[in-house]
Amino acid sequence: MERLLNKLIERNKYLTKYGKVADYIPALGNANPQDIGVCIMDIDGDIYTGGDYNKKFTIQSISKIISLMLAIMDKGEEEVFKKVGMEPTVEPFSSLYKLDLSHCEKPSNPMINSGAIVTTSLIEGKGEEKFNRLLKFMKKIILKDNLNYNKEVYLSEKETGYKNRAIAYLLKQKGLIEGNVENILDIYFKQCSIEVDCIDLAKIGIFIANKCKNPKSKEVLCDEKIASIIIPIMTTCGMYNFSGEYAINVGIPSKSGVAGGILAVVPGRYGIGVYGPALDGYGNSIVGYEILKDLSKELNLSIFK
Ligand code: DON
Repeated sequence: MERLLNKLIERNKYLTKYGKVADYIPALGNANPQDIGVCIMDIDGDIYTGGDYNKKFTIQSISKIISLMLAIMDKGEEEVFKKVGMEPTVEPFSSLYKLDLSHCEKPSNPMINSGAIVTTSLIEGKGEEKFNRLLKFMKKIILKDNLNYNKEVYLSEKETGYKNRAIAYLLKQKGLIEGNVENILDIYFKQCSIEVDCIDLAKIGIFIANKCKNPKSKEVLCDEKIASIIIPIMTTCGMYNFSGEYAINVGIPSKSGVAGGILAVVPGRYGIGVYGPALDGYGNSIVGYEILKDLSKELNLSIFK
């Protein structure tokens, strides 16, 4: 398996020159566009790694999976989906224009920024407690105690996140979030800045693939029903307005982050973490996509085949 991972990294590394590191959050601009890492964890808890698998990066939008899980655990499926939809979008992940249409009651889905700000607001806890609960939940999922957020990236987004601020105030005006808008944004920026590596992503992936159980600890952290909500949402919305083409070419429920991570879930089989900070125009890792496409073919991982 590790030979295969390294072969796929070698085969696809030329692509990094066609992508671009995100710099709308200035601190993300420091990443090396040539980095590529992969980790696969199987259902027995065995891991296989390749390339820069232990490079640290911020989780960014992949945290939207965690806040959705926690919001459902805290408030229940019905309450959550009253305030955020389940439908894919054709707009970019940071778009707010639909939210301002009077017939559009709520964000289309929890994988875009507007939807995720809603799910973050639904996590139980006052102020900082929401974030502490999210971090604690993640630590339990990946069995790692020294997980934390990257202050530089957090402050960088907090300072420059004008569009997310506009989205959050619009959500407040529409009655979709309760409480202090700046406090909710603060939790959202912190959750996006949590530092992970490919192994951490693979562990979150296998937790979902294994119906919400870490294969090593076997501790049940939430109802397996949650996996059956997260997996279809990842499939239809996880790669933003590229989710359809991705489903055809890769066929693995996935979620990307703008720092270059992709978390992929092969139900009942694998959790996969890929890192490559050079992004395509949709905000997805350019090399991460191609590696997952190749992996899917080589190991027959598409859920549609
Ligand atoms: O809110 C933002 O714009 C970032 N913190 C996260 C966006 C993101 O990761 C989208 N990914 N492809």
